[in-house]
Amino acid sequence: MSWIACAPSNIALIKYMGKLDEERNVPLNASLSFTSHDFISRAELSVADNAAGDCWQPFDDEGVFAGIYLSEQEQSKYIKHLGFIKNHLEFSGNFILKSGNNFPKGAGIASSASSFAALTKAAVQAICELKGGVVLPVEQMAALSRIGSGSSCRSFFSPWALWNGEEVKSLSFGEFDHLSHQIIIVSDKAKKVSSSQAHRLVKTSLLYKDRVDRAETRLKQLIKALESDDWHTVFKICWAEFADMHALFATCDEPFSYISGDSVKALNAATSFWSTYGDGPIVTMDAGANVHVFWRQDQSRLQIQFSGLPELAGFKVINDGNHGNKR
Ligand code: PMV
Repeated sequence: MSWIACAPSNIALIKYMGKLDEERNVPLNASLSFTSHDFISRAELSVADNAAGDCWQPFDDEGVFAGIYLSEQEQSKYIKHLGFIKNHLEFSGNFILKSGNNFPKGAGIASSASSFAALTKAAVQAICELKGGVVLPVEQMAALSRIGSGSSCRSFFSPWALWNGEEVKSLSFGEFDHLSHQIIIVSDKAKKVSSSQAHRLVKTSLLYKDRVDRAETRLKQLIKALESDDWHTVFKICWAEFADMHALFATCDEPFSYISGDSVKALNAATSFWSTYGDGPIVTMDAGANVHVFWRQDQSRLQIQFSGLPELAGFKVINDGNHGNKR
């Protein structure tokens, strides 16, 4: 018997950075993300007949999900989360757990969010069915998932997700609910500093003092700009927000940076595009070198022009193809 679940990645435009409670992944500030339905993780659980405990395996014959290998540390974090759910649901059987994504992991594309959300869904379904109970409501699944990876709780909600403290909910912003998400892949190498380390290190930055206030102020401004269809202000706020998060990384006690020379090239391409056309994409970066851009549906011609820029010629650009009603 096996249980399969998929979950989308989500990219924060107002970032979760810094924890109030490390054990339970309660954030210091509220965050707002867009859910990207075509960048997904898949998890499959099957009952293990032996009593040797849970184990992880990659997908080897599952097309786009094949070929994602978790390091030993990643496997143990993933299996620990399965153990946490089993414990929470009072289940003592063992599973073989397989997982993969249709995009690179550890490169700032939120693979931990989608993979922990997929695992949580598959585990809850499996255990509830094996115990003959009712599957938990989405809010409870999101709360369980948050314990494994904070930002994964947002992957249960779409098109936008607002996460504040221990609560997450969907938000909708009219025409901005159907954004097209492009990722300029400047590197598919896994990042050297994990987001857990980043959450701790940022607190040592001199810029951290007012970080929560800045994030909360931008969140209010961003919601207002999204509600009033003010795309240029949305762009400016999102740019200021990711630059703020990356400035914390650059100014903490053991400074580090995810931004490479190639990231800067991609960012410059986006700013010069805005200057030339007076219009352009929303831009953000996560904890990785890659650059995320988001377009409105009516910008499809601009999006094609942008993808063909000579400055981006050396990079792979991937699209979620999330136009119009394709959801
Ligand atoms: O959920 P975590 O612990 O992987 O943290 C995610 C942190 C960022 O991706 C950098 C920002 C965010 O809000 O997703």
